[in-house]
Amino acid sequence: MRFPRPLPSTGVPTVPSIPHVAPDRLPELLRRMPKAELHVHIEGTLEPELIFALARRNQVSLDYESVEELRAAYDFSDLQSFLDIYYAGASVLRQERDFEDMARAYLERAAADNVVHAEIFFDPQTHTARGVSMETVINGLHRACQRAREEQGVDASLILCFLRHLSEQEAFETLEQALPLRDKFIGVGLDSSEVGHPPEKFARVFARCRELGLHLVAHAGEEGPPEYVWTALDLLKVERVDHGVQSSRDPALMRRLARDRVPLTVCPLSNLKLRVFPDLAAHNIGDLLDAGLVATINSDDPAYFGGYMNDNFLQTFAATALTVRQAYQLAANSFEASFIGKSAKRNYRDMLDGAFASFV
Ligand code: ADE
Ligand code: ZN
Repeated sequence: MRFPRPLPSTGVPTVPSIPHVAPDRLPELLRRMPKAELHVHIEGTLEPELIFALARRNQVSLDYESVEELRAAYDFSDLQSFLDIYYAGASVLRQERDFEDMARAYLERAAADNVVHAEIFFDPQTHTARGVSMETVINGLHRACQRAREEQGVDASLILCFLRHLSEQEAFETLEQALPLRDKFIGVGLDSSEVGHPPEKFARVFARCRELGLHLVAHAGEEGPPEYVWTALDLLKVERVDHGVQSSRDPALMRRLARDRVPLTVCPLSNLKLRVFPDLAAHNIGDLLDAGLVATINSDDPAYFGGYMNDNFLQTFAATALTVRQAYQLAANSFEASFIGKSAKRNYRDMLDGAFASFV
């Protein structure tokens, strides 16, 4: 007897029947659905209270008298105005346990938002420039990831980011310093001041990282033009684009991203606080999804931008016409876009389907 051959896979996951959800219950569904966070800078999770506690622990002096005064300074006009304060905040991190405490606090907060998988950025150059060793940074963060697996059941891994305002040479040196700890991070990224520092500046470093089997991502199209997204794809050969919201200005780029299912890790509250969009109602996340892109929602630097994962979901859905089906799509996209194996992706999708099916 012959069996019918399965239809060839399109690579596009099927969507189960989506339950009817009364509008007033959508927030609960958004909170409860399992999700992956793929764009969070661990230094951007340092809450002012922890900055002050670590400053005391390490006898670092701060330019602010109190938590309230520091928080009041979180009024940004653009990316650079944020980065200046973000790098200053990171100066309190000195010892391995500081890095572990910071990542632990984030992972506990993420678990409370039903984040079941996190791929976490870290900026080693911010720390090595102050005399903190690469081992101190990576071992502290890695320990927190191990504990999150044991204690919260959250699967967490690390992505090393090169600072794009620094030189190619410094990026190569950073990679060399990190390679003895290669088993403790899964990939590399590119962050910091975007405009004036196009992806091609790091083409050779990324080529080397590709040879080493590291996953590749880069911030592109946050404030920078669509050309930076093209060059991140074509010259750096990234597997995901961080932010990428400026892509909607270029129809050919949108078709390319949709065709190749290149995920965008979008961060709505970050875009709001850094004035990429005037308000959340004007955010283009709905357009990205409607164009068939694998867009995801993430928190970027939650301690600075006023919200973790569920705040990003809740505020974005409250301000836009996003639907229950798009809530499902965003969560499904987060698992599809993650750097995990096929069977782990299938397990997360089953978990997501179960959460929707049982939501009555
Ligand atoms: N580093 C931390 N947050 C960042 C962002 N939103 N863009 C670029 N670099 C960053
Ligand atoms: Zn970012």
